[in-house]
Amino acid sequence: MVLKPNTRMLEICCGDGFNARHFYSSAASSITALDFDKDAIPHAKRFNSAPNITYLQRDIRDGFPLGPFDNIVWDAAIEHFTEVEIDKIMSEIVGLLGLDGILSGYTLTEAKDGKKSNALHEYEFKDKEDLRRFFTPHFKFVKVWETIYPTRHNLYFVASQTPIDMFS
Ligand SMILES: C[S@@+](CC[C@H](N)C(=O)[O-])C[C@H]1O[C@@H](n2cnc3c(N)ncnc32)[C@H](O)[C@@H]1O
Repeated sequence: MVLKPNTRMLEICCGDGFNARHFYSSAASSITALDFDKDAIPHAKRFNSAPNITYLQRDIRDGFPLGPFDNIVWDAAIEHFTEVEIDKIMSEIVGLLGLDGILSGYTLTEAKDGKKSNALHEYEFKDKEDLRRFFTPHFKFVKVWETIYPTRHNLYFVASQTPIDMFS
């Protein structure tokens, strides 16, 4: 919905590269896809390579590749960071996106009993407003929405310094 035409994309926390190859590479002029997992990146290079994707093993808490980027995608991974880490990462993302770049992604909500769904999760979000508060100090335009199914309550986000046209 928010990928720009011929976008220069950064996918952070890309995992095995499935999404980069199957969902994003046809829309992008270039993709830099990174993850800190030492097994994920060799797997991505072997099974999900494409001429316009560069995979990097990188911990985003230690810094980002040089921008600028038109789209930054952060799927299913913001919950792997602490509140302080998320705030620092947002600041860096803002610098890489400039005035009209777009950050997008999704996460899941915390279970009603407060138990984490995965031991690797640092912070799980209570609801849309709890997620939105991480973006609003950094971005002028923020959209957060949700899907609710019996076994899964997801939260989705897009954020930019310019108004976001979701369906162009
Ligand atoms: C649930 S997976 C999501 C993978 C992929 N984005 C997807 O949607 O299928 C979360 C990913 O975040 C990565 N990750 C967690 N902390 C990270 C960090 N500090 N720097 C880079 N990647 C990280 C993990 O290695 C893992 O591959």
